[in-house]
Amino acid sequence: MSQAPSPEHAARMTIASIARLFAEGERIAMLTAYDYPTARILDEAGIPMVLVGDSLGQVMLGYDSTVRVTMAEMLHHTKAVVRGTKRALVVTDMPFLSYGVTPEASLENAGVIMREGGAGAVKLEGGERSARTIESIVRAGIPVMGHIGLTPQSIHQLGGHRVQGKTRDAGRQLLADALAVQQAGAFAVVLELVPEQLATEITKRLHIPTIGIGAGAGCSGQVQVITDLLGLSADFTPRHARHYADLHAIIKSAAEAYGEDVRAGAFPGPEQSTRMDDRTLDEILGRTALDRADGMAAAHGIPLDRDL
Ligand code: KIV
Repeated sequence: MSQAPSPEHAARMTIASIARLFAEGERIAMLTAYDYPTARILDEAGIPMVLVGDSLGQVMLGYDSTVRVTMAEMLHHTKAVVRGTKRALVVTDMPFLSYGVTPEASLENAGVIMREGGAGAVKLEGGERSARTIESIVRAGIPVMGHIGLTPQSIHQLGGHRVQGKTRDAGRQLLADALAVQQAGAFAVVLELVPEQLATEITKRLHIPTIGIGAGAGCSGQVQVITDLLGLSADFTPRHARHYADLHAIIKSAAEAYGEDVRAGAFPGPEQSTRMDDRTLDEILGRTALDRADGMAAAHGIPLDRDL
């Protein structure tokens, strides 16, 4: 009789597995990760989709926006996250201007993220304006997640982190964007900073999952930036985020305690140290009768006990 594979032997999630979760009505949890140890923990926790977001630029690299993030940086972090996950579908953001300039470059860069990075899908921003790019990448066999609403790579055009789609025209545009992304072949779409009623209505009209961030509970799934969730962001937590832990306080107090222990000579203790055989130490330091007799080690210029 065949048995269901245990979680550690289960196959990696694909866009088909995500479609199955969606069809079964399961709300889909997605989190960002940028490094190997965090990716391992999220995978162990059963998070089905891990996003190597270009939020990397702000939360890990200290840039002032995602516009500064490069393909090389996205690739570097994607590889670490892929190595850290066995089960999750890894989705990687295509960085600013790595797509949408020419169809050839968009496809080439999406291919590099999959081939070299090892991601299972790419994500790119824009609705109607990105539809043809999405279409050509999907046609090449690369799964694409769309991203509409607040699109951080256009922050200089949008003029700030504001909720999108709040007027008649802007709301209609958002609906058109969602449909365009779906029509282009995306397997899911992120809705960022969208009023919850509008996000719910968009979700009802699509047959692919909507993954919300600051878009209310009516989406098919949710995505959060891991540093917001863990209370690790330096000075700012967006209103849509909930702290599930306060790692800033935990790490700070651990670092303070370590600093105090080092200053006081209380670290390392016997448990963190290794002892050797005292007779071997005597031999090393020229304390044995033989050493004293022939002055052997002194010939190598090593300062032995008797030379001190
Ligand atoms: O870069 C990112 O982390 C994202 C999420 C906010 C969806 O795009």
